[in-house]
Amino acid sequence: MDLFAPLSLHCGAVLPNRIAKAAMEENLAGPGQLPDHRLRKLYRAWSHGGAGLLITGNVMVDARAVTGPAGVVLDARSPLEPFRAWAAAARSGGAVAWMQLNHPGRQVRADLGGVAWSPSGVGIGDGFAVPSAMSEDEIRALTGMFAASAARAVEAGFAGVQIHAAHGYLLSQFLSPLANRRTDRWGGCLENRARLLLDVVRAVRAVLPAGAALGIKLNTADFQRGGFGREDALRVVRLLADEPVDLLELSGGSAQRPVMHGAGLDERTLAREAYFLDVAREVLAAAPMPVMLTGGIRTAAGAREILDAGVAVVGLGTALAQRPSLPRDWVAGRPGPAPLPPSAARDKAAVSAAKQAAVRLLLRRTAARGHAPEATDPDAALRLDRRRRATLVPRYRAWLEART
Ligand SMILES: Cc1cc2nc3c(=O)[nH]c(=O)nc-3n(C[C@H](O)[C@H](O)[C@H](O)COP(=O)(O)O)c2cc1C
Repeated sequence: MDLFAPLSLHCGAVLPNRIAKAAMEENLAGPGQLPDHRLRKLYRAWSHGGAGLLITGNVMVDARAVTGPAGVVLDARSPLEPFRAWAAAARSGGAVAWMQLNHPGRQVRADLGGVAWSPSGVGIGDGFAVPSAMSEDEIRALTGMFAASAARAVEAGFAGVQIHAAHGYLLSQFLSPLANRRTDRWGGCLENRARLLLDVVRAVRAVLPAGAALGIKLNTADFQRGGFGREDALRVVRLLADEPVDLLELSGGSAQRPVMHGAGLDERTLAREAYFLDVAREVLAAAPMPVMLTGGIRTAAGAREILDAGVAVVGLGTALAQRPSLPRDWVAGRPGPAPLPPSAARDKAAVSAAKQAAVRLLLRRTAARGHAPEATDPDAALRLDRRRRATLVPRYRAWLEART
């Protein structure tokens, strides 16, 4: 399959090629948790770099619950102009731009304040806030938040939205029997655990204009004993079959098991690219909608193999952070960047945190200068990230307090 063949979606939109920039939280919001010149410069670089689809880093639907202190918030009160400018920059080179929408649920750091919602009040410790179990009213409010943010994203010029239901965030918490111990209609059997995701999908679709795309990011598994497994993923995909979903992205893992960053995967899987291809095969066979696969993809040959396995779109994160023009380089036959240097940390969580910090540092460099070096020391990047975070947390908390 040709990486540069267009893809027509159910909504009528067409992706110019099969390469997507996967969502990567940039943690680059300016004052007011709004996108500014830095995010515009970064997305201009990606748009001109040749990827057909750019999915933004997760944008928060609830100002009180953010994944990081410089997370972008788009709710009913956010001014739309900064988002219009961001969408225009992302479209400027011919890419299609979607906004990823997320509520982190219990995966909110305690020092950020705000609220940590969860299905059942089961916390994860380790610096995360103590969560509360959501009431029926809160569940209804959440659906409304996703819909309001989606409508505003498209009004601002994004061609669609992706609902984040992976990586242990709130919608994924509802799907997981470990996080969701409810005994009402939102918990128990898979149909109940998936009810919130389906409600959100329907509420979002109801507010999107014709031609706007709706995507979902789902875990193939959360890789925890007793958690959301591959059989669950298969059943969720079957439940979604009747919904007008334009693209289903498959990933895996959570804050506790960060396999999406390669942590804990065996050498063979890491070497092969496409971390989740094996677990995704059954879902791929069952999914009536086009599937995007993300995780570990870095070469044109690897990407083509994944398309040949029946995947419609390949998602790249790290490699496109290292080189925003990678798709254009593939056309020209130029090789991509070498993998990031490894972290010297011993435990998996620290290795994964260092890798993410390295990627974020590259994003900040591109956001500042339009280009970045392709490698950086992950452990030094993590130290820098922690210092930067210490200045951003009070800024976020002061903003939140003034706002509420
Ligand atoms: C710094 C960083 C931030 C990320 N933020 C998000 C995010 O906001 N939403 C999301 O769905 N995935 C996020 N991811 C996961 C990526 O989308 C992707 O699934 C993961 O990096 C594996 O792909 P890769 O090997 O091509 O980087 C993030 C990854 C990194 C490195």
